[in-house]
Amino acid sequence: MHPTEIPIYGNYHGYYHKRPSASDSRLACLPPKLFHDARVLDVGCNEGFVTCEIAQTLGATRVVGVDIDDTLVRAAWKHRRTVWSQQGPPAQPPHRDACDEGRDPASGPRKRRRTSDSGCMPAYFPEAFEHMFGPLPVPDAVQRRTDDDTEGSANARFPHNVSFRAADWVAGPIPEDEAEYDVVVAFSVSKWIHLNGGDDGLLAFFRRVHSVLRVGGTFVFEPQEWDTYAKAKRMDVRLKENAAALKLRPGDFERELQDLGFGPAEHMGTVGDGGFRRPIDLYVKVR
Ligand SMILES: C[S@@+](CC[C@H](N)C(=O)[O-])C[C@H]1O[C@@H](n2cnc3c(N)ncnc32)[C@H](O)[C@@H]1O
Repeated sequence: MHPTEIPIYGNYHGYYHKRPSASDSRLACLPPKLFHDARVLDVGCNEGFVTCEIAQTLGATRVVGVDIDDTLVRAAWKHRRTVWSQQGPPAQPPHRDACDEGRDPASGPRKRRRTSDSGCMPAYFPEAFEHMFGPLPVPDAVQRRTDDDTEGSANARFPHNVSFRAADWVAGPIPEDEAEYDVVVAFSVSKWIHLNGGDDGLLAFFRRVHSVLRVGGTFVFEPQEWDTYAKAKRMDVRLKENAAALKLRPGDFERELQDLGFGPAEHMGTVGDGGFRRPIDLYVKVR
């Protein structure tokens, strides 16, 4: 998309300048083990901030981000390299060092740097270095990656465990869909799919999510509220016409998902600030 074009798919550039991006509060409200050893699809990944966070710090072995806007997908690949540059070496296991000797235990535990599930220290390389010297190169992935890469193999760790694709994911599959996913994430994208594709487009999206998840897998869903459609549809005459024909409302989504074979929604809470305050729901595929 050219930067001056209207973002009718919610394909905002600079989206993560508006949303908090260092540690996404939507991910923070999910069960801590949800992404462990998981194959994950992030639909509507935008510039890949959420995708990279899942891949780097939440223990997923494979994360695929897909977005309809190829310029955003290019930005996502670039972001992956930035995140990689800022990632520190694996943290050393805790040990008593000379400095601990004679330390007053009443002074409380020594503060340790936050480490990710992969044992690395994120935010290690000062941000300014990338502007001064460019990002660090990403080392080659181990040849012959397989889809059953297990936790512990280099390909199953950041940055090799994350990739991006430009595609309208509602319109058709991407090659990665062939192997099932354990988790599909759809944050702030349902309104755009609904306004562009109508009720049929949204239902097609739900069917696609259901078809690519394994039984027992989880759909992590952040639907936008109905009142936010009004502003979005004013962007474009086609969206306005489509909106007038919509019969489904976000309150109907749970029933539609259950009809497809998902269990009842597990409400993880309503997170975010201002216009970004939205519910996060989990749906487990039961059949
Ligand atoms: C508002 S942004 C949300 C970004 C991200 N999911 C988040 O919440 O942080 C919606 C994204 O969905 C993408 N999108 C909309 N329709 C899509 C489709 N049919 N297939 C793939 N991506 C789509 C847009 O390009 C945009 O980047």
